[in-house]
Amino acid sequence: MQKLNTTGLQGVFDKYSKDDLRFRLVNSGDINEEYFKLLVQLTKVGEFDQEKVSKFYAQHLENNPYFFLILVEPTGVGSDGKKRAPAGLGTLVIQPKLFRNLCFAGIIEDIVVSSEHRGKGLGTKITSCLRDMAESLGCYKVLLYCEENLQSFYEQPGLEKKGIMLAKYFN
Ligand SMILES: CC(C)(COP(=O)(O)OP(=O)(O)OC[C@H]1O[C@@H](n2cnc3c(N)ncnc32)[C@H](O)[C@@H]1OP(=O)(O)O)[C@@H](O)C(=O)NCCC(=O)NCCS
Repeated sequence: MQKLNTTGLQGVFDKYSKDDLRFRLVNSGDINEEYFKLLVQLTKVGEFDQEKVSKFYAQHLENNPYFFLILVEPTGVGSDGKKRAPAGLGTLVIQPKLFRNLCFAGIIEDIVVSSEHRGKGLGTKITSCLRDMAESLGCYKVLLYCEENLQSFYEQPGLEKKGIMLAKYFN
């Protein structure tokens, strides 16, 4: 059976990490209030409850081989001596497919850049990093759904408009 090969991911992170910003996979220690403060800039998140959030992460995401959550971390510590809040987040979801001799497709999701880090190319880098991760994992394509106003933003990392998206929200 074809398996996901994750050995190339560190090389992808190294390509995008610079002196002051490091790209890496999220781990359970990152799932905290700071992380949620950034998610609020993307969508509705609801009330933050550390215990419930940690349990959900452990049950559904931590060992899920098809979900790759990444974050961009400013290096060093803040003026209070604490680790600095993440500058950006993104997700790559892998879909195993029964066609094309058994293969994988990637879906880029949930990209957000903290308001203080916007407008400096970080969103484009996160998209490019997730695109390269999909390629490195052996996906034959990567997809991304977005609002029309963000089309030109996502075209910069080389994604092209293909079809349209339909959605039905249940809540
Ligand atoms: C969208 C977002 C990730 C962009 O992050 P960023 O780091 O500021 O992006 P970049 O600096 O790489 O911007 C690249 C280009 O996209 C454009 N762009 C950025 N945000 C845009 C927006 N909301 N609408 C239209 N164009 C946008 C920029 O103007 C820039 O173009 P330029 O190079 O011609 O000046 C950030 O604004 C964000 O987190 N928004 C809230 C969450 C969100 O909407 N996420 C996307 C979900 S699909």
